[in-house]
Amino acid sequence: MNSFPKVDAQEELLKPKRMIIAPSLLAANFSKIGLEVMRVQLSKADWLHLDIMDGHFVPNISFGPQVVKVARSHSRMFFDVHLMCSKPEILIEPFAQAGADSMTVHVELGKQVEGLIWKIRSEGKKVGLAINPPTPISAVEPYLGKIDMLLVMTVNPGFGGQSFIEEMIPKVQQAVSWRKEKKLNFHIEVDGGINFETAAECAAAGADAFVSGTGLFGKRNLKAAVRKMRQVTLQAAKNQGHPRATELDFSGSIHRQIK
Ligand code: DX5
Ligand code: ZN
Repeated sequence: MNSFPKVDAQEELLKPKRMIIAPSLLAANFSKIGLEVMRVQLSKADWLHLDIMDGHFVPNISFGPQVVKVARSHSRMFFDVHLMCSKPEILIEPFAQAGADSMTVHVELGKQVEGLIWKIRSEGKKVGLAINPPTPISAVEPYLGKIDMLLVMTVNPGFGGQSFIEEMIPKVQQAVSWRKEKKLNFHIEVDGGINFETAAECAAAGADAFVSGTGLFGKRNLKAAVRKMRQVTLQAAKNQGHPRATELDFSGSIHRQIK
């Protein structure tokens, strides 16, 4: 069983004035998965992002609840589970039991979405809604009052290591303006091709949660890389006067620590 005290998911998700850095386990070395999870925890990243692919919704298969359970036994972090799956309804309960704190389903599932949101909530978990690059942002608008985070995919899902799609930036901006207009408080998360530069670009557009696989795991010093991503996103958001960033402080440049 997990020997770490578990974080309070409610408290964790609702800390409003900061940037969330979420390394994606997909880019980890799976031959030493427990150590990799501990490495993420020690890096002081905010969330661990877990990509679940079913070989149907996306053309790749990743891992299931058993791996999440193993990860949970090594960490008390907030587990952000991204379900790239055609039938998430059969997976919500198993992933909840395995240790997920939030589960994100895709808006491309259409009529199923409403019921999925309800099912995730009924498991006592936070709710995310993801949108793929070809899907117009208008698809998510009806659900914005019911979710804790909007995940804007910045690559076509299925594989790590792809290039960031610049054309997704206006989706982030639209989400920011809806969030303000509707007086909502969901996180705006970006996922796919996120490195220091693209993270800063997304932060300037108003994103506040950053999933990064190869962009973080590819660095020898993960802790320094997480700090740098937090710093560059904060700086970019502050430069644009985004309210979530203006009260945050960060100390000292760490640019020199990252090659
Ligand atoms: C893509 C996944 C991403 C992936 C990101 O299908 O949803 O979370 O792990 O990997 P990078 O950061 O390498 O693009
Ligand atoms: Zn993901």
